[in-house]
Amino acid sequence: MSASGTGQAAATMQVPMLDLQAQYRPIRDAVLDVVTRVCDSQRFIMGPEVEGMEREMAAYLGVAHAVGVSSGTDALLLAMMALGIGPGDEVITSTYSFFATAGCVARLGAKPVLVDIDPVTYNIDPAATAAAVTPRTRAIIPVHLYGQSADLDPLLDVAARAGVPVIEDAAQAIGATYKGRHVGGLGRAGCFSFFPSKNLGAFGDGGLVTTNDDTLAAELRRMRVHGTERQYYHQVIGGNFRLDALQAAVLRVKLPHLAGWTEARRRNAARYDQLFAEFGLAGAVTLPATAPDRHHIFNQYVVRVPNRDAVKAYLESRQVGCAIYYPVPFHEQACFAYLGHRSGQFPHAERAARETLALPIFGELTAGQQRYVVSAVAEALSRTA
Ligand SMILES: Cc1ncc(COP(=O)(O)O)c(C=O)c1O
Repeated sequence: MSASGTGQAAATMQVPMLDLQAQYRPIRDAVLDVVTRVCDSQRFIMGPEVEGMEREMAAYLGVAHAVGVSSGTDALLLAMMALGIGPGDEVITSTYSFFATAGCVARLGAKPVLVDIDPVTYNIDPAATAAAVTPRTRAIIPVHLYGQSADLDPLLDVAARAGVPVIEDAAQAIGATYKGRHVGGLGRAGCFSFFPSKNLGAFGDGGLVTTNDDTLAAELRRMRVHGTERQYYHQVIGGNFRLDALQAAVLRVKLPHLAGWTEARRRNAARYDQLFAEFGLAGAVTLPATAPDRHHIFNQYVVRVPNRDAVKAYLESRQVGCAIYYPVPFHEQACFAYLGHRSGQFPHAERAARETLALPIFGELTAGQQRYVVSAVAEALSRTA
């Protein structure tokens, strides 16, 4: 199958970036049963399915409270609202993440204070975070990018010294651990996404906020439903951040499979590492690095390659799905021009945006498909050198 050394392209094989059908097939009957259960109950908003999901998630993540919400974006927005973040406040976060991380800060009228990443893990740089603290800092949001925890201890130290909370953006990292503890339970709040492409995906949008702080949990629950404890009496201004029962019921079917699905992703990551070595590409292609004391759940397997855009185009011509997460860091986004940053200010993030490429890593990927992906990368590099 390998084309290395021959210059010949192997026969084409289709390798999608993600194959949700493959995950769905073995759980289809169980999912349809719970969907029927919810339909028969005609209780669609909140209710026992959401409460059950929250209990099971809290137990899985080892946190005191898990609050189901409408999306990962809303998890971030709600957590910041419940912590009282608003106009005039500064929130420090990475310049390199999915848009929601900084977007939610700006939507509350607060200022996203952007910092560069560590070039090895792509996660927020703790030293740069410390340097960005000012008297207006109100929170720090590390992102556990691609499924690997940020370096939380130094970040928690910076936050403690500044007297502000850490809000973990754990949208991509359910099941990841830092020094043996689940992410999401290490800061004041953890924010998760159940977008279908996540390791634990709903059948639509969904999210979760976790916390060990009883007072914050009560505020999250109140603000999730327009700031009410008693219907039509509003103590504070919240929003509609509710999760619906169908999503909760599907998540309850999927949660017991999460550990197995994650192990399959980790096995695939290890297999890619071996295949890149076997193809003699370990020098040309920078593989993902897992920092010590972290359990990476590989929501994405992201490599650095020379001539990234040409490699991507070649892989696509060979029917290999791949993706760029993310092509433009926040400080170079048009909507954040008002922050007054310039290109070159955060060089590690800018390089990552130019050089990285995510390869298919979903659990059901076969060894043959992975060999085909790596051989296609080898061909691409020999053609684009
Ligand atoms: C790092 C990060 N934060 C926040 C979100 C927002 O989650 P959602 O798409 O569920 O709103 C995502 C989702 O892709 C994400 O990857």
